[in-house]
Amino acid sequence: MSIKVVDESNGNVSELQLLESTLGRPTVDIKPISSDLGYFTFDPGFVSTASCRSEITYIDGNEGVLLYRGYPIEQLAKQSSFLEVSYLLMNGDLPNSEQKSKFEGEINRHARIHEKLRAFVDGFHYDAHPMSMMVGVVGSLSAFYHSELDMEDPEHRRISAMRMLAKIPTIAAACYRHSVGMPFVYPRADLSFSENFLNMMFSLPSHQFYIEDQHFLDPSAIRALYLLFSLHADHEQNASTSTVRLASSTGANPYACIAAGISALWGPSHGGANEAVLTMLKEIGDVKNIPEFLERAKDKDDPFRLMGFGHRVYKNYDPRATIVRETCHDVLDKLADSDPLFELALELEQRALSDDYFVEKKLYPNVDFYSGVIYKALNIPVDMFTVMFTIARTAGWVSHWMELMSDPSQRIGRPRQLYVGKTKRDYLSLDER
Ligand code: ACO
Repeated sequence: MSIKVVDESNGNVSELQLLESTLGRPTVDIKPISSDLGYFTFDPGFVSTASCRSEITYIDGNEGVLLYRGYPIEQLAKQSSFLEVSYLLMNGDLPNSEQKSKFEGEINRHARIHEKLRAFVDGFHYDAHPMSMMVGVVGSLSAFYHSELDMEDPEHRRISAMRMLAKIPTIAAACYRHSVGMPFVYPRADLSFSENFLNMMFSLPSHQFYIEDQHFLDPSAIRALYLLFSLHADHEQNASTSTVRLASSTGANPYACIAAGISALWGPSHGGANEAVLTMLKEIGDVKNIPEFLERAKDKDDPFRLMGFGHRVYKNYDPRATIVRETCHDVLDKLADSDPLFELALELEQRALSDDYFVEKKLYPNVDFYSGVIYKALNIPVDMFTVMFTIARTAGWVSHWMELMSDPSQRIGRPRQLYVGKTKRDYLSLDER
């Protein structure tokens, strides 16, 4: 199948092939337009452009569908675990029990970081934003794993991916401990992935930390954290994953490429939204102020937007939000009295969902509206929220990196532009300007 594009100014024709997908819309191969008609195509924000072929994740934004390697997110959220989901994303299929325990054991072993890497964490000022520390420290892993890395060797690539998945939680917890003046906690081989992370975050030098015995974290909030890791693990060609792919297409060191992805994730329109939700709730301050802020969100002259609402791809509902909403409500039902912010979050959700502006524009709460609230319930500081997202999304980033590196058709990413600047002009000396 093909479609023809006719240039009406001169009758020239370009015949474009339709590329079939296994799910979703066919995609037009626009490459010949440039040579046949002499034009580039214009698509700011890549709203209609597929940048690659991928077998990892499928999203249907209108129907609210999210599949990892073909498995619906609802089934994975209910029946699987974050590490199993990570294995699936990286390898293409669910592991059998032997593969699963081997994978978990390997992640456990790679969780340690080089002692010298801790010096990078210690070098930051105490009030550095944890995401700035993550960008720097994860990027500096490239200095530890460079000379012996053969990117042509699939086994080297697999080990790099495993290292990142395993070490990023250790680095994340180290950044947090540094910011609150607490000593670094080494990863423990006897704990599961999430328990190990919570132990590295919250254990005290004076107390052994046991998940079962701890009282300051609600068990339903811990379950919600495990769930959020799986929900955030991948989301096809989002801004941070596309950044990782673009950086990787140059053949750059993978740890540096993941650091580029972390930078992209930090923005409030992307992974920074969960932090922005809490900042917004604090700004609203009280249930009685909700109407005023809803009006501001609708006012085109006011930059204020309702953080945690709307999505570039999901225009009906975000399936991840549907899954986590119930868990979030479980957490909030228990904790609503403990913090007025939780009551405010529930009220804002209800009012926006019944407001004509938000209903007509299909602006529903996205996963980050709920994740921010759950992280708060877990006593995770607001500026660590996007770091939590980073831990989960590392599974997706490394899967896309491995896919790109093994794709023989991959070329360096190099978009074109529509130049609208000055035409050619002559340099003027200082006294002529
Ligand atoms: N509050 C108020 N109005 C909004 C909001 C919002 N949160 N989101 C979109 N709108 C309005 C826009 O003003 C626009 O109105 P118009 O048609 O009258 O011009 C319309 O809805 C469509 O919005 P766009 O900006 O065109 O949608 P886009 O797909 O470009 O943006 C985005 C999506 C960035 C997520 C946006 O909805 C937003 O800023 N939301 C808040 C930030 C947020 O929660 N981000 C997290 C995304 S999820 C993630 O990264 C995991």
